[in-house]
Formats: sequence, structure tokens, C-alpha cells
Amino acid sequence: MKQIDELKRRLLEVAHVSSALALLHWDQEVHMPKKGAASRALTIAELTGLMHQKIVALDHGRVLTTLKSAVKKGTIKGKNKIIVLETLRTFEREQKFPEAFVREMAETLSQAQGVWADARARDDFALFLPWLEKIVKLKRREAAYVGYRASPYDALLDAFEPGMTAEEASRILNDLKDFLVPFLKELRVRPAGKAQGVSLKGNFPVARQKEFNAMVAREIGFDLEAGVIEESTHPFTTNFHPHDVRFTTRYRVNDVMHAIGSTIHEAGHGLYEQGLPAEHFGTPLAEAVSLGIHESQSRMWENMIGKSTAFWRHFYPKLKKQFPAPFGKITLQDFCRAINQVSPSLIRTEADEVTYNLHIVVRFEIERELIEGTLAVKDVPAVWRSKMKDYLGISVPSDARGVLQDVHWSAGLFGYFPTYAFGNLYAAQFFAAMERELPVSRLVARGAFGPVREWLRRHIHARGKTYTASALARKVTGEPLNSRYFAEYLKKKYKNTKK
Ligand code: CO
Repeated sequence: MKQIDELKRRLLEVAHVSSALALLHWDQEVHMPKKGAASRALTIAELTGLMHQKIVALDHGRVLTTLKSAVKKGTIKGKNKIIVLETLRTFEREQKFPEAFVREMAETLSQAQGVWADARARDDFALFLPWLEKIVKLKRREAAYVGYRASPYDALLDAFEPGMTAEEASRILNDLKDFLVPFLKELRVRPAGKAQGVSLKGNFPVARQKEFNAMVAREIGFDLEAGVIEESTHPFTTNFHPHDVRFTTRYRVNDVMHAIGSTIHEAGHGLYEQGLPAEHFGTPLAEAVSLGIHESQSRMWENMIGKSTAFWRHFYPKLKKQFPAPFGKITLQDFCRAINQVSPSLIRTEADEVTYNLHIVVRFEIERELIEGTLAVKDVPAVWRSKMKDYLGISVPSDARGVLQDVHWSAGLFGYFPTYAFGNLYAAQFFAAMERELPVSRLVARGAFGPVREWLRRHIHARGKTYTASALARKVTGEPLNSRYFAEYLKKKYKNTKK
């Protein structure tokens, strides 16, 4: 069929602009000099405008409309049907925005970034307040353009986790909160397996850390001939093509485990991107399902695999060799206890596996109310402090280490936070399914990561957007998202209870 080839040609154009944008963002975080920020923002805004035009132009000559009826009539099936339906989803959302709105949003967000960074550095929420008010207004307008049934938050969440609603997210996160809050209290009363007096701190030259991190990424299967590892303030992964996947990590001279955690996490994202089918580049068949599914890959490698005793049975001798001090004197058992310690903390990105999702609950509850208009922006710091106290039992000493810590709201990423929690839940559910088919611990303990990686590739990566997140979960695990697996995983790990 002629139109489908024309659609694929146009999609490839969009993909090339998108790759160029990703390269600009990558460079901005990794290499760009500070003074380049203003001109870079304009270049990015220009290309974003171009991409918007190209997406809207996908239906020129009624190409998409014709294909849509062909799908309805059943004359387009299989892979092409998925390409048409998923492209329609992107197109229909994008064409609702007036170009002036797209520009206003891009410009506001680009300016807000700098203000937020200043406000955080000075611990001054008042500085950021008018900008956050402006962003919330813009996001509410975005939701109005997109349209929604129950909550404007639905329209924003859908951009990151297609098909998910505020109501369902609330239910999932409330379940999680109801489990985690008492679970955490119990753990603190009985700190099972707490490593007493073991410190993993030391002096770790960055060059030696880099060698070790690259070795770990390579061994778990990240292809360094189709990928690059660099450094940035906030670790992230980006991709231009399955054959060019890049991620950053962050080194701390006194804490080698910091970079290792980031590296394994980002390598998990990287493996997903490298595992997408290159022959379908440009189409939804070579795109990740959702942010939740993406995060399931990073969190599974980082936590379920990367913090397991089996994993360190393989890597600990290498770590000891690379850094005789302090690890030469620490047993594997004490080391594993130390890296799995649970203790409520202020910063989300440094949180342990138990408390992490409570940080997400705090952000989700606040941002949903902001978008639904039931909470005023000026009241956010106070609400933040009270929720941190209620859920995590800790007092927030400053807004810099509280409401201002994350980049998301200044970047306009409302509806993004819940996908981190979905990622943890999907990770546990996929991991349980994988364990039913593979002797995961035994393989990992002898460094045989191939079968694990190939299982994930076959069941998740290679499928691109063939299934929605919920359908993929059913296909791979036999049921839709179920938070029971995550709860069981935590119970087993932290309380040594038998299944
Ligand atoms: Co991630």
C-alpha cells in the first residue's frame, strides 16, 4: 500500500529531527560550556517547532486519515496496523496544540530551568514561585487542549504512561503507601540485617572507577560499540538509534557505590534502547512502550539484580581487586547488607528500595492537586513537609533539600513521577516471571548475564510498542500490573520471610 510507505518515510524524517534534538540535549548536559545555554535554548526551541510541524504534517494529503480507515476496514493488519495506531496517538495529541502555545511552553520551560537552579542553590522557594505558578497554568492549558474525562491530570499522565489515568495511578500508589508506611515502621523497630559499623567510604580515584563501571556495563551486556558512557550532574540515558545509545553516570571520589548504582541503572535503560529492533527505526515498533516499562528495566538491573548477593558473588572479587581499601577487609555478606540498608532520607534519587516509592507518593499527591486546581502553588512547601513527616517520618530542614530538589516541575514534567513507581512494580512482576523460567540467581552468580538479557530482549525490548504497558504485562507475566510482586519482593528481601 502506497500510503503506508509514505507514512514510514515521513516518520523517518521526524525520527531524524528527534535524533538531532536528542544530540543537542546530550551535548548540553555533557559538554556544553555554561555560556552556551541561552543560544542552545533557542536552537532547541527552533528544532522543537520543526518537529511539531513535521508531526502535524503526517496527515498531509490525508495519509493518516486514509490509513486509519484502512485499519478500521481490516485491510491493514499486523505490524503496519500498530504503526498506524501508535502514530495516530502521537499525531492526535500534537495537532491539538496551537504552534504559539508550543513555543510559549518551550520558552517558559527553558527560562524556568535557570530560575529553579538558582532558587535551589539559594534555598529560596519564593524566587521559583511565580515561575511554578506560570508552569502549572500552562500545564492546565495543555490538559485542556488535549481533553480528558475525569481529571486534567489524566491528559498529562497519558503522555508518559499511555492509557493510565489519575484514578488508577491513585489506586496503585495508595495501595503502595498502605503497604509501605507500616512496613517501614516495622523495619525501623526491627532493623533486620543492619550492617553495624561497616563503612564503604574510601578514596576512589575517578579513573579507576571509570574502568570498573565500564567493565560492569559491558559484562551485563551494554554494547560499547553501539554506546557511550560519559559523566553529567544528573545521570540519564539518551538514544539516537539502537546503534547509538548513550548514558551518563556520576562519580563521587569518596563513594564508589554511588556511580556503580547509577551506571547499572542507566545501563538497564541503555539495554532497552539497544534491544529495540533497528530495522524498524523511526516507527513505533522501535520505540519503548512507556516510561514505566522503561524504568522497570533500569530498576530491575539496579536493584533486583545489581543489589543481590548473587550479583556481588560475581563482582565483589573484582571490586576488591580494583579497590583493596576498604573492600579487602569487608566480607561479601557485610558488603551486601551495607548496600541494602533501609533508612528514610530527604533526597529521592538517593533513597533505598523501601522508601523510594514514598517519595513518589509525596510528589504525585501534590502535583495531582496542583493540576486539578485544589492546591495553591504557594502552599506546596508546607504540604511537602507535612507529607514527608507523615509518610517517611522525617523533618525537611530546607526547601533546597525538599520541594526544590527535583528538576521535573521546572521542566514541565507533570505526570512523570508516578512512572518511577510503576517502573518498580513492573520490575518486580517481570522479575518474578523471569525467575519462573530461568535460574536467575545461579546465572548471575557466575556472571552469565546473557540469558537474563536475552529474556528481557525477547519478551520486552524487541517488541517496541507492539503492546501497551498493560497488555505487555499480561503477555509476559499472565496478568496486568499487580503491586503484590513488589510487596513480596520487599518482604522476602528485608524481613527474610519465606514465600
Ligand atoms: Co531511570
